[in-house]
Amino acid sequence: MTRYILAIDQGTTSSRAILFDQNYTPVAVGQQEFRQHFPASGWVEHNPEEIWETTVATAKEALKKAGATINYIAGIGITNQRETTVIWDRETGKPIHNAIVWQDRRTADFCQKLKEDGLESQFAKRTGLLLDPYFSGTKIAWLLKYVEGAREAAEAGKLAFGTIDSFLLWRLTGGKVHATDATNASRTLLYDIHRNEWSDELLDILDIPKSLLPEVKDCAADYGMLDPAILGGSTKIAAIAGDQQAATVGQACFQPGMMKSTYGTGCFALLNTGAVPVTSNNKLLTTIAYQLDGKPTYALEGSIFVAGAAVQWLRDGLGIIEHAAQSGEFAKMADPGQRVIMVPAFVGIGAPYWDANCRGAIYGLTRAAGPKEFARAALDSVCFQTRDLLTAMRGDFTESYETVLRVDGGMSASEWTMQRLADILGAPVDRPVSAETTALGAAYLAGLQTGFYPSVDEFSKSWRRDRRFSPSLSAQDRDAAYAEWQDAVRRTLTNYR
Ligand code: G3P
Repeated sequence: MTRYILAIDQGTTSSRAILFDQNYTPVAVGQQEFRQHFPASGWVEHNPEEIWETTVATAKEALKKAGATINYIAGIGITNQRETTVIWDRETGKPIHNAIVWQDRRTADFCQKLKEDGLESQFAKRTGLLLDPYFSGTKIAWLLKYVEGAREAAEAGKLAFGTIDSFLLWRLTGGKVHATDATNASRTLLYDIHRNEWSDELLDILDIPKSLLPEVKDCAADYGMLDPAILGGSTKIAAIAGDQQAATVGQACFQPGMMKSTYGTGCFALLNTGAVPVTSNNKLLTTIAYQLDGKPTYALEGSIFVAGAAVQWLRDGLGIIEHAAQSGEFAKMADPGQRVIMVPAFVGIGAPYWDANCRGAIYGLTRAAGPKEFARAALDSVCFQTRDLLTAMRGDFTESYETVLRVDGGMSASEWTMQRLADILGAPVDRPVSAETTALGAAYLAGLQTGFYPSVDEFSKSWRRDRRFSPSLSAQDRDAAYAEWQDAVRRTLTNYR
Protein backbone atom coordinates (compact mmCIF):
# COMPACT_ATOMS: atom_id res chain seq x y z
CA MET A 1 0.00 0.00 0.00
CA THR A 2 1.58 3.31 -1.09
CA ARG A 3 1.45 6.09 1.47
CA TYR A 4 3.48 8.98 0.15
CA ILE A 5 4.57 11.04 -2.81
CA LEU A 6 8.24 11.94 -2.96
CA ALA A 7 8.90 15.54 -4.08
CA ILE A 8 12.43 16.36 -5.18
CA ASP A 9 13.02 20.12 -4.89
CA GLN A 10 16.38 20.93 -6.42
CA GLY A 11 17.01 24.63 -5.69
CA THR A 12 19.81 27.13 -6.25
CA THR A 13 21.50 26.67 -2.90
CA SER A 14 20.22 23.32 -1.64
CA SER A 15 18.67 20.02 -2.69
CA ARG A 16 15.63 18.88 -0.75
CA ALA A 17 13.42 15.82 -0.73
CA ILE A 18 10.04 15.80 0.99
CA LEU A 19 7.51 13.03 1.54
CA PHE A 20 3.86 14.13 1.46
CA ASP A 21 1.04 11.99 2.77
CA GLN A 22 -2.50 11.69 1.47
CA ASN A 23 -3.52 14.89 3.33
CA TYR A 24 -0.79 16.97 1.64
CA THR A 25 1.13 17.03 4.91
CA PRO A 26 4.94 16.95 4.68
CA VAL A 27 5.97 14.05 6.89
CA ALA A 28 9.75 13.99 6.37
CA VAL A 29 12.31 16.33 4.86
CA GLY A 30 15.88 15.76 3.72
CA GLN A 31 17.98 18.81 2.90
CA GLN A 32 21.61 19.43 1.88
CA GLU A 33 23.38 22.53 0.69
CA PHE A 34 26.00 22.30 -2.04
CA ARG A 35 28.84 24.50 -3.25
CA GLN A 36 28.46 27.62 -5.35
CA HIS A 37 31.32 28.25 -7.77
CA PHE A 38 32.21 31.78 -8.93
CA PRO A 39 35.00 31.25 -11.49
CA ALA A 40 34.94 34.88 -12.70
CA SER A 41 33.08 38.08 -11.91
CA GLY A 42 29.40 37.58 -12.69
CA TRP A 43 29.84 33.84 -13.36
CA VAL A 44 27.98 31.26 -11.24
CA GLU A 45 28.36 27.49 -11.63
CA HIS A 46 27.22 24.29 -9.90
CA ASN A 47 28.85 20.90 -10.13
CA PRO A 48 26.12 18.63 -11.60
CA GLU A 49 27.61 15.62 -9.77
CA GLU A 50 27.05 17.42 -6.45
CA ILE A 51 23.52 18.23 -7.51
CA TRP A 52 22.98 14.55 -8.26
CA GLU A 53 24.65 13.27 -5.09
CA THR A 54 22.76 15.66 -2.79
CA THR A 55 19.49 14.79 -4.52
CA VAL A 56 19.97 11.07 -3.93
CA ALA A 57 21.26 11.60 -0.38
CA THR A 58 18.29 13.79 0.60
CA ALA A 59 15.80 11.32 -0.90
CA LYS A 60 17.40 8.57 1.23
CA GLU A 61 17.34 10.86 4.28
CA ALA A 62 13.63 11.66 3.87
CA LEU A 63 12.73 7.98 3.41
CA LYS A 64 14.77 7.05 6.49
CA LYS A 65 13.17 9.77 8.63
CA ALA A 66 9.70 8.53 7.66
CA GLY A 67 10.71 4.92 8.28
CA ALA A 68 9.72 4.22 4.66
CA THR A 69 11.17 2.38 1.69
CA ILE A 70 10.65 3.25 -1.96
CA ASN A 71 7.78 0.72 -1.98
CA TYR A 72 5.76 3.24 0.06
CA ILE A 73 6.08 5.84 -2.70
CA ALA A 74 3.23 6.21 -5.20
CA GLY A 75 5.29 8.45 -7.47
CA ILE A 76 8.00 11.08 -7.70
CA GLY A 77 7.55 14.75 -8.64
CA ILE A 78 10.55 16.85 -9.59
CA THR A 79 10.76 20.63 -9.20
CA ASN A 80 13.90 22.63 -9.82
CA GLN A 81 15.83 25.86 -10.09
CA ARG A 82 14.97 26.93 -13.62
CA GLU A 83 17.14 27.97 -16.60
CA THR A 84 20.34 26.45 -15.12
CA THR A 85 21.99 24.62 -17.99
CA VAL A 86 23.72 21.23 -18.17
CA ILE A 87 25.09 19.39 -21.21
CA TRP A 88 26.13 15.77 -20.81
CA ASP A 89 27.44 12.89 -22.87
CA ARG A 90 24.67 10.46 -23.82
CA GLU A 91 27.04 7.50 -23.70
CA THR A 92 28.67 8.07 -20.32
CA GLY A 93 26.08 10.33 -18.65
CA LYS A 94 28.95 12.66 -17.65
CA PRO A 95 28.47 16.43 -17.90
CA ILE A 96 30.91 18.13 -20.26
CA HIS A 97 31.20 21.19 -17.98
CA ASN A 98 29.81 22.56 -14.74
CA ALA A 99 26.18 23.67 -14.86
CA ILE A 100 25.83 27.36 -15.78
CA VAL A 101 23.46 28.79 -13.19
CA TRP A 102 20.50 31.07 -13.97
CA GLN A 103 22.23 33.96 -12.15
CA ASP A 104 25.29 33.76 -14.42
CA ARG A 105 25.91 36.89 -16.55
CA ARG A 106 28.67 35.57 -18.87
CA THR A 107 26.54 35.83 -21.99
CA ALA A 108 25.56 39.49 -21.41
CA ASP A 109 27.64 40.72 -24.36
CA PHE A 110 26.25 38.01 -26.62
CA CYS A 111 22.71 39.01 -25.64
CA GLN A 112 23.58 42.65 -26.30
CA LYS A 113 24.89 41.72 -29.76
CA LEU A 114 21.68 39.80 -30.56
CA LYS A 115 19.69 42.86 -29.49
CA GLU A 116 21.79 45.13 -31.68
CA ASP A 117 21.10 42.75 -34.57
CA GLY A 118 17.42 43.53 -33.98
CA LEU A 119 16.50 40.00 -32.87
CA GLU A 120 14.84 40.66 -29.52
CA SER A 121 11.31 40.93 -30.87
CA GLN A 122 11.71 37.62 -32.71
CA PHE A 123 12.74 35.86 -29.48
CA ALA A 124 10.03 37.64 -27.47
CA LYS A 125 7.31 36.77 -29.97
CA ARG A 126 8.08 33.04 -29.90
CA THR A 127 9.26 32.50 -26.31
CA GLY A 128 7.64 35.29 -24.26
CA LEU A 129 11.11 36.08 -22.87
CA LEU A 130 13.66 38.87 -23.27
CA LEU A 131 17.23 38.64 -24.51
CA ASP A 132 18.91 38.32 -21.12
CA PRO A 133 21.70 35.99 -19.91
CA TYR A 134 19.20 34.68 -17.32
CA PHE A 135 17.74 32.14 -19.80
CA SER A 136 19.31 28.87 -21.02
CA GLY A 137 19.67 29.48 -24.78
CA THR A 138 22.78 31.66 -24.77
CA LYS A 139 24.33 29.50 -22.04
CA ILE A 140 24.06 26.46 -24.37
CA ALA A 141 25.62 28.48 -27.18
CA TRP A 142 28.49 29.42 -24.82
CA LEU A 143 29.14 25.77 -23.88
CA LEU A 144 29.16 24.67 -27.53
CA LYS A 145 31.60 27.44 -28.38
CA TYR A 146 34.05 27.20 -25.48
CA VAL A 147 34.12 23.55 -24.34
CA GLU A 148 36.65 21.71 -26.45
CA GLY A 149 35.08 19.19 -28.82
CA ALA A 150 31.53 20.09 -27.73
CA ARG A 151 30.34 21.40 -31.07
CA GLU A 152 31.52 18.33 -33.02
CA ALA A 153 30.06 15.95 -30.43
CA ALA A 154 26.76 17.88 -30.45
CA GLU A 155 26.60 17.80 -34.27
CA ALA A 156 27.19 14.04 -34.11
CA GLY A 157 24.21 13.64 -31.74
CA LYS A 158 26.41 12.47 -28.85
CA LEU A 159 25.37 15.15 -26.32
CA ALA A 160 22.19 15.98 -24.45
CA PHE A 161 21.08 19.32 -23.00
CA GLY A 162 18.81 19.70 -20.03
CA THR A 163 17.70 22.08 -17.35
CA ILE A 164 18.21 20.50 -13.91
CA ASP A 165 14.92 18.55 -14.03
CA SER A 166 15.97 16.91 -17.26
CA PHE A 167 19.45 16.06 -16.01
CA LEU A 168 18.01 14.51 -12.83
CA LEU A 169 15.41 12.59 -14.86
CA TRP A 170 18.13 11.16 -17.08
CA ARG A 171 20.06 9.99 -14.02
CA LEU A 172 16.98 8.76 -12.12
CA THR A 173 15.90 6.61 -15.06
CA GLY A 174 19.41 5.19 -15.55
CA GLY A 175 19.87 7.13 -18.81
CA LYS A 176 16.65 5.86 -20.36
CA VAL A 177 14.59 9.07 -20.56
CA HIS A 178 15.57 12.45 -21.99
CA ALA A 179 12.58 14.70 -21.36
CA THR A 180 11.48 17.91 -19.69
CA ASP A 181 8.16 19.62 -19.05
CA ALA A 182 6.60 22.62 -20.76
CA THR A 183 7.32 25.02 -17.86
CA ASN A 184 11.04 24.35 -17.90
CA ALA A 185 11.10 24.37 -21.71
CA SER A 186 9.45 27.80 -21.60
CA ARG A 187 12.54 29.24 -19.84
CA THR A 188 15.13 28.15 -22.40
CA LEU A 189 14.71 30.89 -25.03
CA LEU A 190 14.30 28.06 -27.56
CA TYR A 191 10.69 26.99 -27.02
CA ASP A 192 7.74 28.41 -28.94
CA ILE A 193 5.13 28.80 -26.19
CA HIS A 194 2.34 29.40 -28.73
CA ARG A 195 2.95 26.34 -30.89
CA ASN A 196 4.22 24.20 -28.07
CA GLU A 197 7.37 23.05 -29.80
CA TRP A 198 11.07 23.81 -30.04
CA SER A 199 11.59 26.70 -32.44
CA ASP A 200 13.75 25.74 -35.45
CA GLU A 201 14.10 29.42 -36.26
CA LEU A 202 15.59 30.31 -32.85
CA LEU A 203 17.77 27.18 -32.80
CA ASP A 204 19.18 28.36 -36.14
CA ILE A 205 19.93 31.85 -34.83
CA LEU A 206 21.78 30.47 -31.81
CA ASP A 207 23.32 27.66 -33.88
CA ILE A 208 22.16 24.90 -31.54
CA PRO A 209 21.62 21.40 -32.99
CA LYS A 210 18.10 20.12 -32.29
CA SER A 211 19.44 16.68 -31.38
CA LEU A 212 20.58 18.14 -28.04
CA LEU A 213 17.06 18.84 -26.86
CA PRO A 214 14.76 16.78 -24.64
CA GLU A 215 11.21 15.75 -25.44
CA VAL A 216 8.68 18.17 -23.90
CA LYS A 217 5.77 16.74 -21.88
CA ASP A 218 2.91 17.86 -19.63
CA CYS A 219 3.74 18.65 -16.00
CA ALA A 220 1.84 15.54 -14.88
CA ALA A 221 2.97 12.78 -17.23
CA ASP A 222 4.65 9.42 -17.52
CA TYR A 223 8.34 10.25 -17.18
CA GLY A 224 9.49 6.63 -16.87
CA MET A 225 10.50 4.41 -13.96
CA LEU A 226 13.08 5.05 -11.25
CA ASP A 227 16.21 2.92 -11.76
CA PRO A 228 16.04 0.39 -8.86
CA ALA A 229 19.79 0.69 -8.27
CA ILE A 230 19.34 4.22 -6.86
CA LEU A 231 16.91 3.88 -3.93
CA GLY A 232 16.58 0.11 -3.69
CA GLY A 233 13.33 -0.22 -5.64
CA SER A 234 11.30 1.43 -8.33
CA THR A 235 8.35 3.77 -8.71
CA LYS A 236 6.94 6.07 -11.36
CA ILE A 237 8.42 9.47 -12.06
CA ALA A 238 5.15 11.24 -12.62
CA ALA A 239 5.66 15.02 -12.66
CA ILE A 240 8.04 17.84 -13.47
CA ALA A 241 7.61 21.61 -13.03
CA GLY A 242 10.01 24.54 -12.63
CA ASP A 243 10.08 25.71 -9.02
CA GLN A 244 8.15 28.96 -9.47
CA GLN A 245 5.50 27.19 -11.52
CA ALA A 246 5.31 24.40 -8.94
CA ALA A 247 4.73 27.07 -6.27
CA THR A 248 1.92 28.48 -8.44
CA VAL A 249 0.33 25.02 -8.41
CA GLY A 250 1.06 24.55 -4.69
CA GLN A 251 -0.68 27.88 -4.03
CA ALA A 252 -3.65 26.61 -6.09
CA CYS A 253 -3.55 29.65 -8.41
CA PHE A 254 -5.63 27.86 -11.04
CA GLN A 255 -7.94 30.69 -12.09
CA PRO A 256 -7.03 33.67 -14.29
CA GLY A 257 -6.27 36.67 -12.07
CA MET A 258 -4.84 34.56 -9.23
CA MET A 259 -1.26 35.35 -8.32
CA LYS A 260 1.54 34.19 -6.05
CA SER A 261 4.87 35.59 -5.02
CA THR A 262 7.71 33.48 -3.61
CA TYR A 263 10.29 35.25 -1.43
CA GLY A 264 13.59 33.38 -1.42
CA THR A 265 16.98 34.75 -2.42
CA GLY A 266 15.08 36.52 -5.16
CA CYS A 267 11.37 36.97 -5.64
CA PHE A 268 9.26 35.57 -8.43
CA ALA A 269 5.65 36.69 -8.89
CA LEU A 270 3.37 34.81 -11.29
CA LEU A 271 -0.10 35.91 -12.40
CA ASN A 272 -2.29 33.22 -13.99
CA THR A 273 -3.65 34.63 -17.27
CA GLY A 274 -5.50 31.50 -18.43
CA ALA A 275 -5.42 29.67 -21.74
CA VAL A 276 -4.25 32.62 -23.82
CA PRO A 277 -0.72 33.97 -23.50
CA VAL A 278 -0.65 37.70 -22.70
CA THR A 279 2.11 39.72 -24.30
CA SER A 280 3.72 42.17 -21.90
CA ASN A 281 4.23 45.81 -22.77
CA ASN A 282 5.88 46.34 -19.40
CA LYS A 283 8.85 44.00 -19.63
CA LEU A 284 7.31 41.11 -17.77
CA LEU A 285 7.82 37.58 -19.06
CA THR A 286 5.11 35.48 -20.64
CA THR A 287 5.59 31.94 -19.47
CA ILE A 288 3.82 28.61 -19.10
CA ALA A 289 2.35 28.31 -15.57
CA TYR A 290 1.55 24.62 -16.00
CA GLN A 291 0.46 22.22 -18.72
CA LEU A 292 -2.07 19.48 -18.09
CA ASP A 293 -3.70 17.17 -20.67
CA GLY A 294 -1.77 18.88 -23.45
CA LYS A 295 -3.26 22.30 -22.60
CA PRO A 296 -0.93 25.05 -21.42
CA THR A 297 -2.06 27.65 -18.90
CA TYR A 298 -0.05 30.83 -19.17
CA ALA A 299 1.27 33.35 -16.67
CA LEU A 300 2.87 36.75 -16.59
CA GLU A 301 6.01 36.58 -14.48
CA GLY A 302 8.00 39.26 -12.74
CA SER A 303 11.47 38.16 -11.64
CA ILE A 304 13.33 40.13 -8.97
CA PHE A 305 16.90 38.96 -8.40
CA VAL A 306 17.37 40.31 -4.85
CA ALA A 307 14.81 39.89 -2.07
CA GLY A 308 16.01 37.71 0.83
CA ALA A 309 19.54 38.38 -0.44
CA ALA A 310 19.18 41.98 0.82
CA VAL A 311 18.57 40.64 4.33
CA GLN A 312 21.50 38.24 3.96
CA TRP A 313 23.62 41.26 3.10
CA LEU A 314 22.55 43.01 6.34
CA ARG A 315 23.56 39.87 8.21
CA ASP A 316 26.68 38.64 6.38
CA GLY A 317 27.89 41.78 4.62
CA LEU A 318 27.23 44.51 7.18
CA GLY A 319 26.90 42.36 10.30
CA ILE A 320 24.14 44.60 11.68
CA ILE A 321 21.73 41.75 12.39
CA GLU A 322 22.52 38.30 13.71
CA HIS A 323 19.78 36.34 12.01
CA ALA A 324 17.30 37.06 9.22
CA ALA A 325 14.26 37.21 11.52
CA GLN A 326 15.81 40.15 13.36
CA SER A 327 15.34 42.36 10.28
CA GLY A 328 11.59 42.60 10.93
CA GLU A 329 12.12 43.44 14.62
CA PHE A 330 14.59 46.17 13.68
CA ALA A 331 12.35 47.56 10.92
CA LYS A 332 9.50 47.87 13.39
CA MET A 333 11.64 50.08 15.64
CA ALA A 334 13.02 52.27 12.82
CA ASP A 335 12.53 56.03 13.15
CA PRO A 336 9.52 56.93 10.99
CA GLY A 337 11.09 60.37 10.40
CA GLN A 338 14.07 58.85 8.51
CA ARG A 339 13.54 58.28 4.78
CA VAL A 340 16.30 55.79 3.93
CA ILE A 341 15.66 54.02 0.60
CA MET A 342 17.71 51.05 -0.58
CA VAL A 343 17.80 49.88 -4.20
CA PRO A 344 19.36 46.40 -3.88
CA ALA A 345 20.63 46.12 -7.46
CA PHE A 346 23.56 43.92 -6.39
CA VAL A 347 23.52 42.02 -9.70
CA GLY A 348 21.79 44.64 -11.79
CA ILE A 349 18.04 44.86 -11.57
CA GLY A 350 15.46 42.49 -13.09
CA ALA A 351 11.80 43.06 -13.91
CA PRO A 352 10.46 45.44 -14.96
CA TYR A 353 13.69 47.45 -15.52
CA TRP A 354 16.17 44.81 -16.80
CA ASP A 355 19.33 46.80 -16.29
CA ALA A 356 22.18 44.25 -16.00
CA ASN A 357 24.86 46.87 -15.42
CA CYS A 358 23.49 49.13 -12.67
CA ARG A 359 24.50 48.41 -9.07
CA GLY A 360 22.87 48.95 -5.68
CA ALA A 361 22.45 52.32 -3.97
CA ILE A 362 21.20 53.81 -0.72
CA TYR A 363 19.58 57.23 -0.54
CA GLY A 364 18.42 59.55 2.22
CA LEU A 365 21.18 58.92 4.77
CA THR A 366 21.42 61.29 7.75
CA ARG A 367 23.56 61.07 10.89
CA ALA A 368 20.54 59.56 12.65
CA ALA A 369 20.23 56.65 10.21
CA GLY A 370 21.42 53.34 11.67
CA PRO A 371 20.88 49.57 11.54
CA LYS A 372 17.14 49.84 12.18
CA GLU A 373 16.62 52.20 9.27
CA PHE A 374 18.80 49.98 7.04
CA ALA A 375 16.71 46.96 7.99
CA ARG A 376 13.51 48.81 7.17
CA ALA A 377 14.97 50.01 3.87
CA ALA A 378 15.95 46.43 2.89
CA LEU A 379 12.50 45.03 3.64
CA ASP A 380 10.80 48.04 2.08
CA SER A 381 12.75 47.41 -1.14
CA VAL A 382 11.19 43.97 -1.42
CA CYS A 383 7.70 45.46 -0.98
CA PHE A 384 8.32 48.27 -3.48
CA GLN A 385 9.71 45.84 -6.06
CA THR A 386 6.63 43.67 -5.65
CA ARG A 387 4.48 46.73 -6.27
CA ASP A 388 6.51 47.42 -9.45
CA LEU A 389 5.59 43.93 -10.65
CA LEU A 390 1.93 44.12 -9.74
CA THR A 391 1.61 47.54 -11.40
CA ALA A 392 3.18 46.10 -14.56
CA MET A 393 0.82 43.11 -14.39
CA ARG A 394 -2.19 45.41 -14.07
CA GLY A 395 -1.02 47.25 -17.18
CA ASP A 396 -0.63 44.03 -19.17
CA PHE A 397 -3.55 41.92 -18.02
CA THR A 398 -6.61 44.10 -18.21
CA GLU A 399 -9.30 41.52 -17.39
CA SER A 400 -11.19 42.33 -14.25
CA TYR A 401 -9.76 40.49 -11.27
CA GLU A 402 -9.36 41.14 -7.59
CA THR A 403 -5.75 41.65 -6.55
CA VAL A 404 -4.96 39.22 -3.74
CA LEU A 405 -1.36 38.10 -3.46
CA ARG A 406 -0.61 34.61 -2.14
CA VAL A 407 2.85 34.59 -0.60
CA ASP A 408 5.37 31.92 0.34
CA GLY A 409 9.11 31.48 0.85
CA GLY A 410 11.29 32.32 3.85
CA MET A 411 10.47 36.02 4.07
CA SER A 412 6.72 35.38 4.17
CA ALA A 413 7.27 34.28 7.79
CA SER A 414 7.97 37.93 8.74
CA GLU A 415 4.78 39.53 10.04
CA TRP A 416 6.19 43.05 9.70
CA THR A 417 7.25 42.53 6.09
CA MET A 418 3.95 40.97 5.02
CA GLN A 419 1.94 43.78 6.67
CA ARG A 420 4.18 46.35 5.02
CA LEU A 421 3.71 44.50 1.70
CA ALA A 422 -0.07 44.76 2.01
CA ASP A 423 0.29 48.46 2.91
CA ILE A 424 2.55 49.24 -0.05
CA LEU A 425 0.44 47.21 -2.50
CA GLY A 426 -2.86 48.50 -1.16
CA ALA A 427 -4.11 44.92 -1.56
CA PRO A 428 -4.57 41.89 0.69
CA VAL A 429 -1.67 39.49 1.14
CA ASP A 430 -2.60 35.88 1.95
CA ARG A 431 -0.17 33.52 3.62
CA PRO A 432 -1.08 29.81 3.41
CA VAL A 433 -0.86 27.26 6.20
CA SER A 434 1.50 25.14 4.10
CA ALA A 435 4.98 26.64 4.06
CA GLU A 436 6.16 24.03 1.53
CA THR A 437 4.26 25.30 -1.49
CA THR A 438 6.94 24.56 -4.12
CA ALA A 439 7.45 20.94 -3.11
CA LEU A 440 3.72 20.55 -2.54
CA GLY A 441 3.06 21.70 -6.12
CA ALA A 442 5.41 19.03 -7.51
CA ALA A 443 3.96 16.39 -5.17
CA TYR A 444 0.41 17.31 -6.13
CA LEU A 445 1.19 17.00 -9.86
CA ALA A 446 2.77 13.57 -9.31
CA GLY A 447 -0.21 12.54 -7.18
CA LEU A 448 -2.61 13.74 -9.85
CA GLN A 449 -0.83 11.64 -12.45
CA THR A 450 -0.74 8.49 -10.31
CA GLY A 451 -4.26 8.82 -8.84
CA PHE A 452 -2.86 9.38 -5.33
CA TYR A 453 -4.42 12.87 -5.20
CA PRO A 454 -7.81 14.07 -6.50
CA SER A 455 -8.73 16.62 -9.17
CA VAL A 456 -7.47 20.19 -9.42
CA ASP A 457 -10.80 21.45 -8.04
CA GLU A 458 -10.56 19.24 -4.97
CA PHE A 459 -6.96 20.26 -4.42
CA SER A 460 -7.93 23.96 -4.68
CA LYS A 461 -10.47 23.47 -1.90
CA SER A 462 -7.76 22.11 0.38
CA TRP A 463 -5.76 25.39 0.20
CA ARG A 464 -5.91 27.04 3.65
CA ARG A 465 -5.00 30.52 4.72
CA ASP A 466 -2.86 30.95 7.78
CA ARG A 467 -3.32 34.71 7.84
CA ARG A 468 -4.56 37.58 5.69
CA PHE A 469 -2.65 40.88 5.91
CA SER A 470 -4.99 43.75 4.97
CA PRO A 471 -3.74 47.17 3.94
CA SER A 472 -3.96 49.79 6.67
CA LEU A 473 -1.96 52.68 5.20
CA SER A 474 -3.81 55.61 3.62
CA ALA A 475 -3.61 55.80 -0.17
CA GLN A 476 -1.81 59.12 0.16
CA ASP A 477 0.96 57.74 2.41
CA ARG A 478 1.28 54.64 0.26
CA ASP A 479 1.70 56.61 -2.93
CA ALA A 480 4.12 59.09 -1.34
CA ALA A 481 6.37 56.24 -0.16
CA TYR A 482 6.22 54.54 -3.56
CA ALA A 483 7.07 57.80 -5.36
CA GLU A 484 10.29 58.00 -3.29
CA TRP A 485 11.18 54.47 -4.36
CA GLN A 486 10.51 55.23 -8.03
CA ASP A 487 12.73 58.27 -7.81
CA ALA A 488 15.52 56.22 -6.18
CA VAL A 489 15.32 53.55 -8.91
CA ARG A 490 15.39 56.17 -11.63
CA ARG A 491 18.58 57.59 -10.15
CA THR A 492 20.16 54.11 -9.92
CA LEU A 493 19.57 52.89 -13.48
CA THR A 494 22.53 53.23 -15.84
CA ASN A 495 20.56 55.28 -18.32
CA TYR A 496 19.65 57.88 -15.64
CA ARG A 497 19.26 61.33 -17.04
O1 G3P B 1 14.41 31.28 -12.19
C1 G3P B 1 15.23 30.92 -11.12
C2 G3P B 1 14.43 30.27 -10.04
O2 G3P B 1 13.78 29.15 -10.52
C3 G3P B 1 15.35 29.97 -8.85
O3 G3P B 1 14.62 29.65 -7.76
O4 G3P B 1 14.25 29.12 -5.42
O5 G3P B 1 16.14 28.02 -6.60
O6 G3P B 1 16.28 30.43 -6.03
P1 G3P B 1 15.37 29.28 -6.36
